[in-house]
Amino acid sequence: MIIRPRRLRSSAAMRRLVAQTRVHPSQLVLPVFVADGLAEPRPISSLPGVVQHTLGSLVDEAHRAQAAGLGGIMLFGVPRPEDKDATGSHGLRADGILNRALSAARAAVGDELVVMADTCLDEFTDHGHCGVLDASGLVDNDASMALYATMAVAQARAGAHVVSPSGMMDGQVAAIRTALDAAGYTQVAILAYAAKYASAFYGPFREAVGSSLSGDRKTYQQDPANRREGVREAALDEAEGADFLMVKPAGYYLDVLADVAAAAAVPVAAYQVSGEYAMICAAAERGWIDRRAALAEAVTSIVRAGASIVLTYAALELSEDHHG
Ligand code: PBG
Repeated sequence: MIIRPRRLRSSAAMRRLVAQTRVHPSQLVLPVFVADGLAEPRPISSLPGVVQHTLGSLVDEAHRAQAAGLGGIMLFGVPRPEDKDATGSHGLRADGILNRALSAARAAVGDELVVMADTCLDEFTDHGHCGVLDASGLVDNDASMALYATMAVAQARAGAHVVSPSGMMDGQVAAIRTALDAAGYTQVAILAYAAKYASAFYGPFREAVGSSLSGDRKTYQQDPANRREGVREAALDEAEGADFLMVKPAGYYLDVLADVAAAAAVPVAAYQVSGEYAMICAAAERGWIDRRAALAEAVTSIVRAGASIVLTYAALELSEDHHG
């Protein structure tokens, strides 16, 4: 007798019935860039289909995300170059582009869509690092962490449901939780970029936010060689009060993601980063790969590995695959 697993692959209906992993729009989060001083949305050449939004087009995008049934949007602010400084102060201002964007998005969607804020200084510093530099030029952990705490409170005040520290400073989640609670924002959640690797796959993002970085982030983001360390970082963030943990990048870190998901008591997210998305777009443009199928497969694999939430630039596109 031959045991025949192929029986369960015999029709689309059968395959749908037995699918172990399903990706639903409600678990997808769309990253959204909002730039200061733009008259109209500006395409990002290295991220096909993704633009820098104006405050007006951001509101339309938030409504689209809501109508598509997405889980949320993650906002990134892109300041005018002249507004960058050594401490990223524009990122903390109530009238800074990110906080204005958060207010506009929140006013547009209320509580119908989860509005998340990137809580990091790299878009706002003139040197492009995620924190402030000490006298020797190293990113100063505790000084940066204190700024994140102030930034998180400003983002909560602007209307963020979720703040998302992505700077990889030690202790940042605890510092932000303490500051949010002290300011009365006990219901604002923290999505911790818990295991964030110093990755070459962030390339297109740096164009998307007009990054000023020269050099790298290897003294604060993790070494791609380290799997155990991802679990350690996630456990620390969970102990510090993170409401969600995130692994980033996603597709090349499925081992780390599976480990973190197995150990975590909170929801686990993964970020399909700009390079992961752009490579699929580029290959598809050459006719080498089926764009939609490759994106869907990549996101399915990320969910299969253990993410219950996926940040992806393809969130709206993939939600079109979902019927009812
Ligand atoms: C830093 C940040 C980065 C990304 C999200 N937040 C870039 C970096 O660490 O250099 C990358 C996202 C992507 O590549 O899509 N605040």
